[in-house]
Amino acid sequence: MVLGILGSGSGSNMQAILDAIADGSLDARIALVLSDNPDAFILERAKRHGIPAGVIDCGGYKTKFPEAAQAETARRLHDAGVELVCLAGFLRLVKQPLLEPFPQRIVNIHPSLLPAFPGLKSWKQALDAGVSETGCTVHYVDAGMDTGPIILQETVPVLAGDTPESLHERIHQAEHRAYPEAIRRVAGAGFFLPQRGASGVGWGRE
Ligand code: GRF
Repeated sequence: MVLGILGSGSGSNMQAILDAIADGSLDARIALVLSDNPDAFILERAKRHGIPAGVIDCGGYKTKFPEAAQAETARRLHDAGVELVCLAGFLRLVKQPLLEPFPQRIVNIHPSLLPAFPGLKSWKQALDAGVSETGCTVHYVDAGMDTGPIILQETVPVLAGDTPESLHERIHQAEHRAYPEAIRRVAGAGFFLPQRGASGVGWGRE
């Protein structure tokens, strides 16, 4: 499976995917890494692994993902032969210009057990809410924020004395197991496609 990665930060989840590829537990290849942040370490990681990488020009907007930039991103991913787009700490909302060319071919990892605690700093949200468990979710991306059908979740305990940092670190460790496993499942299933039924949208094989 040919992967494209979009990230805005450190890229430790991409590193986990690369490690799984290297140890033979994930049959995939990363063809392109793109970031909206020219200083993101994910670009440096890509460079160190000899993976083509580039910057997405968002025209100076801090959070908006302009339609033209999304269309350009889709074109670059398509030209690189990408089959599955993995969002790995990508901080902008993906909409139609990128979703449409990659139907059910974009996945994301989020640091909570969705639908609980969408949005930013989910580990802090979990701590503030006083839950005893949180975790991470890999899901297909739709036009919502941290919505879309769930592929896999891993639960993480919230321990007495946890700080936002210690909980975040435990979730991160879980993410590094969950993301390669979720991609493995998507690949193994030959991708999933939505099936609309009386009970809503489910996912089944094409
Ligand atoms: C992860 O916690 C992921 O769930 C969230 O952003 C973070 C990215 O971390 N979407 P990294 O850049 O992969 O280290």
